[in-house]
Amino acid sequence: MANMGIEILGTGHHAPARVADNEDFAKIVDTSDEWITSRTGMKRRHISSGEPTWYIASQAAHNALENGGVDPLDLDLIICTTVTPDFQTPSTASMVQRELGAKNAICFDMNAACSGFIFALDTARRYLASGDEVKTALVVSADILSKMVDYTDRSSCVLFGDAAGACVMRAAPGRLYASSLSSDGEGAGLLCARYPFPSNPLQDPALMPQWEDLDSPQDPYLHMAGREVYKFAVKALPHEVMRACQKAGITVEELKWIVPHQANIRIVETAAKNLGVSMDKMVMNLSEYGNTSSASIPVALDEAHRDARICRGDKVAMVGFGGGLTSGAVVLEW
Ligand code: UT7
Repeated sequence: MANMGIEILGTGHHAPARVADNEDFAKIVDTSDEWITSRTGMKRRHISSGEPTWYIASQAAHNALENGGVDPLDLDLIICTTVTPDFQTPSTASMVQRELGAKNAICFDMNAACSGFIFALDTARRYLASGDEVKTALVVSADILSKMVDYTDRSSCVLFGDAAGACVMRAAPGRLYASSLSSDGEGAGLLCARYPFPSNPLQDPALMPQWEDLDSPQDPYLHMAGREVYKFAVKALPHEVMRACQKAGITVEELKWIVPHQANIRIVETAAKNLGVSMDKMVMNLSEYGNTSSASIPVALDEAHRDARICRGDKVAMVGFGGGLTSGAVVLEW
């Protein structure tokens, strides 16, 4: 398994049609284009006008299959990552399977928040490397964050957008691959959205114990301790990339491209400095999408693949960080 890499056959993405720019946010909260641009690098983001998560996930998956020339019936595995599914059950992966007609695939969802794509890619690679029945795998990451954003909270609402990204892959013996994944539940309360579970008519308030819980508001909106997550992110990003490179037996300089989670341009600039690499190596698109959670890496990856920035033989790192707290990087040869 150690020297079992993956070949990414095709990539794809899809974003809702509606685009909201910084001026749109200045109309609903006390903010400005100047603040958002200088603090985050963001200009625009796509916002769902009703498109469900399963729909944008299916469109991204369809585009990846078409890009790779892969028949949906050849898929053995579909992993979907999302923190904003449309249903508790079925999984979003099952809905994608239904849309694609990929009836031979096993399907499940994973949630590692903004690191989801990295965790899912690594899981898919482990299935592929096991040499069992999974020969072709699809990873699709989709989030409609507008479902859980509080549009009265200026400190968070300007950051997030909606999108889906996907890639289809198979095993590639001997091709470079390594990963570095981390989780830290101690930081669980720093980025949190409660499940909006209704109370039931049979519960007795007197019997309800004082459960130890996260120190976060009781509403179902997404809450983030921005500064703390920022401090975590600027350390996690270089740490995971360096560790994955070390495991792959290459130097950071040998990487042609780094595709980071698109949370904030300042995080990526600081991380690039800490890694000793130029920003030219960083694949960035957050000015056009904002932070789309686990979709952000595969959307940026798809754009860089389609415009031929990423070419066969390039050594590429992808790195995510976010809720959980989670962080992780994959280093591979394209
Ligand atoms: O995807 C998961 C990972 N997420 C991240 O990695 C995000 C990490 N965090 C960040 O990117 C940054 O912390 C933010 C972009 C969220 C915030 O930037 P910041 O430079 O850390 O700002 P701050 O929270 O320290 O706030 C500075 C000031 C505050 O005002 P005072 O207290 O100094 O008067 C805020 O109230 O900026 C104010 N502020 C705003 N002003 C205008 C916060 N949001 C806004 C806003 N417009 N949208």
